[in-house]
Amino acid sequence: MSVQIPRGTQDILPGKVEYWQFVEQKAREICRAFNYKEIRTPMFEHTELFQRGVGETTDIVQKEMYTFKDRGDRSLTLRPEGTAAVGRSYVTHKMFGNPNQPTKLFYIGPMFRYERPQAGRFRQFVQFGVEALGVNDPAIDAEVLALLMNFYQSLGLKKLKLVVNSLGDTESRQAHRQALIDHFSPRIGEFCSDCQNRLHKNPLRILDCKKDRDHELMNTAPSILEYLNDYSKEYFESVQQYLTDLDIEYVVDPTLVRGLDYYNHTAFELMSEADGFGAITTLCGGGRYNGLIQEIGGPETPGIGFALSIERLLSALEAENIELPVEKGIDCYVVTLGDAAKAKSVALVNKLRKAGFVAEKDYQDKKVKGQFKSADRLEAKYVVVLGDDELAKGVANVKDMALGEQEEVKLEELVAYLENKA
Ligand code: HAM
Repeated sequence: MSVQIPRGTQDILPGKVEYWQFVEQKAREICRAFNYKEIRTPMFEHTELFQRGVGETTDIVQKEMYTFKDRGDRSLTLRPEGTAAVGRSYVTHKMFGNPNQPTKLFYIGPMFRYERPQAGRFRQFVQFGVEALGVNDPAIDAEVLALLMNFYQSLGLKKLKLVVNSLGDTESRQAHRQALIDHFSPRIGEFCSDCQNRLHKNPLRILDCKKDRDHELMNTAPSILEYLNDYSKEYFESVQQYLTDLDIEYVVDPTLVRGLDYYNHTAFELMSEADGFGAITTLCGGGRYNGLIQEIGGPETPGIGFALSIERLLSALEAENIELPVEKGIDCYVVTLGDAAKAKSVALVNKLRKAGFVAEKDYQDKKVKGQFKSADRLEAKYVVVLGDDELAKGVANVKDMALGEQEEVKLEELVAYLENKA
């Protein structure tokens, strides 16, 4: 039996990969405009980073990490997300010492989670994420959201719903935490074992439980917004004011709880509302994580960011029937007839390629008809026909495949001729 691809992973083949390149290019352009610089961190980190950063009680740390021992008996983990790794790098390279803050970074790369695969959920997926570290200012929260919305809208997506919430600062969270414990404690026996574990460790995560989401105590649970202290309330109001100034539509959902432990203040998710988008509608998630850097051994540093997967983004584009303008065809195909022409075609395609054209030729000794078929399959714009007779005269016939017209062109003028046509 042939070896199968691992569950929850996929090959991205030519024909599809162009869409990936297109959206990744778009992400880079938008980050450039917002002055976010690319960072590339390792695929694996010390396991401890995610245990401390993402949080012991999260699904990611408890059930989803690809953790292994290396030959030196170190516990390493394939990164399940990018924020803790970027935070680690920020500390490693003392980026907090840079007088210009925030440090604005972005990344595009694979993440790994041992989740149950289904539509939109993979075990290896590619995240595009941004992180702005070093400044606590509602304007930065708004900037990150503006970058996010610009990105999706620039691809033509319309059926989007941005949901925001505030998880408050430590003081607000403590007050809310106690209220949640008081609320759930008397009937915690009716909840799943995960929730029972979370009651004292992290009761906020109970609100995010998929198994118990229909329990009546879920709807009546105390809302974080009622427990925000003045500072947290003002911070959240200011973020919302900026969003309004930026014409960014959003809804406030006090039940929005993120699946990672490091969040405080602003938390958000972006959903697709397109018909036919699968059961998992979250395209992107993010928020503020003012305690994370300290948690992983750095100085007290505020931060905010988001991450989205390219897999879900491409599904959302499909659900909205958006065809991205990707180039799949080639510029010219050189068809030859005769041995001398065939030999010459090697140098000719090279010359065309050096001039910047996407050029191809036959390597299978096909007849002229077969070569034309290859050119069609490759969606060639021009076919350059070179026979031994033409070669002797120093010319080739150039056929414009869209118009069906053919012209004789001197070989030394071929590049200029095609450049003129382009
Ligand atoms: P997250 O909500 O765990 O947050 O993931 C962010 C996004 O990654 C999701 O909204 C989804 O688009 C995508 N994603 C997550 N898991 C999968 C999967 N198994 N298959 C396909 N796509 C998936 C984070 O990762 C945070 N680091 C985000 C962040 C950055 N917060 C602050 N800065």
